[in-house]
Amino acid sequence: MKSFYITTAIDYANGSPHLGHAYEKVLTDVIARFRRQMGDKVHFLTGTDEHGQKVQASARKRGIPPQQFVDEISAEFRALLPKLTISNDDFIRTTEERHKKVVCELLQRLYDQGDIYKNEYRGFYSTRQEQFLQEKDRHPDGTWPEIFGEVTEITETNYFFKLKQYQPWLVEFLTKNENFVFPKYRQSQVLEFLKEPLNDLCISRPKERLEWGIPLPFDAGYVTYVWFDALVNYYSAVADTGQWPATWHVIGKDILVPPHAVYWPIMLKAAGIELPHGIIAHGWWMTRGAKMSKSTGNALNPLDLVTEFGPDAFRYFLIREMNVGQDSDFTREQFLVRYNSELANNLGNLVNRTLNMTTRFAAGTVPAAEADQDLERDLKALWQRTRDEFIPLCEGFQFHTALERAMQFLTETNAYIEKRAPWKLGKSAEPADQALLRTSLATMAEALRLAVAIIRHVTPTTTEKINAVLGYTPGPVWRNELDWDGRLAGKTVAPALVLFPRPAPPEKAPAAAAKSV
Ligand code: MSP
Repeated sequence: MKSFYITTAIDYANGSPHLGHAYEKVLTDVIARFRRQMGDKVHFLTGTDEHGQKVQASARKRGIPPQQFVDEISAEFRALLPKLTISNDDFIRTTEERHKKVVCELLQRLYDQGDIYKNEYRGFYSTRQEQFLQEKDRHPDGTWPEIFGEVTEITETNYFFKLKQYQPWLVEFLTKNENFVFPKYRQSQVLEFLKEPLNDLCISRPKERLEWGIPLPFDAGYVTYVWFDALVNYYSAVADTGQWPATWHVIGKDILVPPHAVYWPIMLKAAGIELPHGIIAHGWWMTRGAKMSKSTGNALNPLDLVTEFGPDAFRYFLIREMNVGQDSDFTREQFLVRYNSELANNLGNLVNRTLNMTTRFAAGTVPAAEADQDLERDLKALWQRTRDEFIPLCEGFQFHTALERAMQFLTETNAYIEKRAPWKLGKSAEPADQALLRTSLATMAEALRLAVAIIRHVTPTTTEKINAVLGYTPGPVWRNELDWDGRLAGKTVAPALVLFPRPAPPEKAPAAAAKSV
C-alpha cells in the first residue's frame, strides 16, 4: 500500500472559521478520500496555529489568559470538521507538548550546527503581520501597504536563521523538481521571488514584546517566531510514526511565498530532514472581488450553509465551482443555481424517477436488463468515457472538470429516460415493450449507482443514502464499483428519498413588497 500523507494549513486560533477555512478542509478531504479509494494508506492532518502576537492581542482584548482563549477557538475549528464530514486522522494544536518538544529539538539542532546566530536588528516591524519589513515592501511614496497595519521602527537583538546561504540550493531544487508546487504557474512565482537575494530570517521575539510562544531552548529571554513554530506542525505530528515525508501540503496562495515554498524547504534541508513531495496552493474565495476574510468583515459562516443545505451540497458547490489554484466568487445566487440545476434537478430527479418507476412498474425490485438497444449502448459507452476520464482528472486535482463530466453523464441518463419513456412502455402489454421496460429500469438504476459511486469522495453522505435506498452495499474496492455489470438486479428499492429539498423562498424585501402594492 502506498502511503499518502496530506496536510492542511493550520488555522490561526484568533477568530472563528469562515468559508475560506472550510474550503481548504473540504478540498483536502476530497483528495484524501480519493486516494483512500484508490488504495493508498492515507494519513490526513489538520489543526490550529495558536501562538503569536495576534493571539496574544485577541486574548488580552477578551481579558482572558491566552491558553483559555485558544482552547475555545481551537474547539470551534475542530467542531466544524465533522459537520463538513472531514475524514482527518489527526488534529494538531501548536500548544501541545508533542509539538513544542519537536520545535525545541529542531531549534537546538540548527543552533548547535551554527545555522542560527544572534544579531542586532534595526528596522521596521509590522505588528499585524508579525513580520520585519524591508524597503522594497514600501509604496513608492514611502507609506506602507494597508496589510501591514501599524509599522514601527525598532532596534532589537534577535536570533536569525541562515536562510540566505541555502538560496542557491533552493533554486536548484525547484529547477530540478518542477512539479513541487501545484499549479505549476505558482512554482514560477516562487522562482521569481528567489531572483532577489534572501535575507536571513529573524526567528525570535523578545519576551518583553511577546510572551505567547515557545521559548527558545538556548535563550529563555526569547520566544520562537510564530511561522517557525507553525510550519513544524507537519513534521511534529508524525515525527515518531514513520509517516514523514508529507505527500502534499494543501495551503492558500497567500502563504506560499515565502513561508511554505522558501522557509519550510530550507528549514528541512538545514535540519537534514526529507522534503515533502509537494505543495498545492489553492486560490481564494472572494466576495465581490475582495478576499473573504475575518478582517474585511465579509466572511461567510460555513455552518449556516451546511445547516441549511447539508454537508454534501456545500462540499459539491465548493469543489465544482473552484478550479484548484484560481480564485472564485462566492454568492448565494451562484450556490442556488448549482444546487437547483445540478443536485436537485439532475441528480435528485434521477433518484426520484428510479425509485418511483421501479416501485410502480416492477413492484420495487430492480429487474435484470435484457437485450440492449442503441440507446442503452450509447449510455454505456458514455459511462466508459466518463469513468476513464474522471480518474486521471482527479489525480491531477481537476475536480471541477471531473464533476462536470459526472453531471454530463447524469444529464444524458435523464435524457435517456425521456427517450425511452418507461411510463409509456408500462401501458403496453406487448412482450417486446415489457422487455424494454425492464431494461430501462435496470439501466437507470445502474447509471444512478455508478454516478454516485464516482462522486463519492465529494458527496459521501449522499452516495451512502442513495446506495441504501437502492438496497445496495458497495464492496471494499472502489475501482470495482465503477464497472457497469447490472449488479442491482433483484435488489429491493425504497419507494422515495428526499435529498435536495427546495430552499424556502427568501422573505420578500420590504421595498419589493411596497412596489407590488
Ligand atoms: N496560521 C497560518 C497558517 C500556518 S500553516 C503552517 C494561516 N492561518 S489562516 O487562518 O489565516 O489561514 C488558514 C488557511 O485558510 C490558509 O491556507 C489560507 O490561505 C486559507 N484561507 C483564508 N482565507 C481564505 C479565503 N478567503 N479563501 C480560501 N482560502 C483562504 O495562514
